[in-house]
Amino acid sequence: MKGVILAGGLGTRLYPLTHATNKHLLPVFDKPMIFYPIQTLVKAGIKDIMVVVSGPHAGHFIRVLKNGKELGVSHLEYAYQEKPDGGIADALALAEDFADGGPITVILGDNTTDADISKPVKEFKEGAVVFLKKVPDPERFGVPRFDEKNPKKIVEIIEKPKNPPSSYAVTGVYIYDNKVFDYIRQCKPSWRGELEITDVNNFYIKAGKLTWAELEGYWWDAGTFETLLYANIYWAKQKGGEKVVRNITKILEL
Ligand code: TTP
Repeated sequence: MKGVILAGGLGTRLYPLTHATNKHLLPVFDKPMIFYPIQTLVKAGIKDIMVVVSGPHAGHFIRVLKNGKELGVSHLEYAYQEKPDGGIADALALAEDFADGGPITVILGDNTTDADISKPVKEFKEGAVVFLKKVPDPERFGVPRFDEKNPKKIVEIIEKPKNPPSSYAVTGVYIYDNKVFDYIRQCKPSWRGELEITDVNNFYIKAGKLTWAELEGYWWDAGTFETLLYANIYWAKQKGGEKVVRNITKILEL
């Protein structure tokens, strides 16, 4: 299994920080954000990785990641997404040669999680697996609608629904077989001009080839000031333990 990290996009919600560098190189406690998805893949035994980059700071990645060896990556490849806001599926399309006919595990570069995905990665055979997480604000995400008769079966994924049909978010962690590239070719730009990964996932649902697993543990995207701060606090706590949390609490009381 190979891994793909999508680190294109413009990160406009984090302006002016992302005028200085790419979102995925901003700090999350003691590491650049992108180290976390790399860590998730390496922990699952995936060491052959492509990073899709774009935008004005694309060149910064190589300075930070180099050839990936320091992070346990055995082979690191880069692809450049010409239209930085072409959409997640547009970025993923660039991994077709790299995938070389095989399956891929995909993580969005601003998703940090401590979940262990090795089991679903090892057991993957065909189709697609999406990883879900219960969240308090599903309307911000792609949300699955489950079959009324079979609550294990997803019948549709709706992008940012006003009335979410469940409290699950489709996280930015996916496993796909090679059919994904055919489905991306069939996607048309959405109202926001992006090739949507939700459309790709809905193709798999129509083909009866989409399954899901729950991400166990912490998961959050760090794409807004608030969630970037949460990610920093969570990972600081993981590293620094209770002392860090006590200090944060003390500062908040000042
Ligand atoms: P988003 O957060 O949807 O987009 P963005 O990163 O451009 O941020 P903003 O909305 O603030 O402008 O993207 C989620 C992840 O998907 C992000 O980690 C980068 C990746 N991505 C790409 O690789 N290419 C793209 O064209 C887009 C839109 C996102």
